[in-house]
Amino acid sequence: MTARIERLVTAGQFTLDGGTWDVENNVWIVGDDHEVIVIDAAHDADAIAAAVGDRRLTAIVCTHAHNDHIDAAPALADATGAVIWLHPDDLPLWKRTHPDRDPDAHLLDGQVIEGAGVDLTVLHTPGHAPGAVCLYDPGLGVVFTGDTLFQGGPGATGRSYSHFPTIIDSIRDRLLTLPPETKVLTGHGDSTTVGAEAPHLQEWIARGR
Ligand SMILES: [Fe+2]
Repeated sequence: MTARIERLVTAGQFTLDGGTWDVENNVWIVGDDHEVIVIDAAHDADAIAAAVGDRRLTAIVCTHAHNDHIDAAPALADATGAVIWLHPDDLPLWKRTHPDRDPDAHLLDGQVIEGAGVDLTVLHTPGHAPGAVCLYDPGLGVVFTGDTLFQGGPGATGRSYSHFPTIIDSIRDRLLTLPPETKVLTGHGDSTTVGAEAPHLQEWIARGR
């Protein structure tokens, strides 16, 4: 059975460096009628659990550990038995939100997270956060980019733990090298494609954000 991709939008707040912003996040649910993986358990464990329904949730994969992408992960894991995956370079960020609960497993570059009809290859793409990852499924023709690449350019790099030259290296070397028709499914807002974004790399470098 071919996997399908569902998008759930949840609302909450992002907090860093003493500021707080209202945000909406994309929660991606990937799998079939029996088993799914959640990418970024944002804000609302009950809403995500309801969207998963009676399917088995095997993994919660975190694209990075900004609080808006991980705030509901422990509650969702406790309710379902799913394994929480995070790149270890984002543990310092994780601990700001969840000081008493570590992720269950460490993501490594090149690793493949397997689920029902899903093979998510982990691409370590630091810059927005040190442990930011994207998840590429060549069979589905999609890459889940978290806050690394959006429709219109790179994720924000103005706050702590971020670095603009590093995100540019990640996008150029790991994402824009994917097939141009690859769908880019983002952590916030609308989707795009690799081919739609690739021509704009020099503009982003010139504007510096
Ligand atoms: Fe973020």
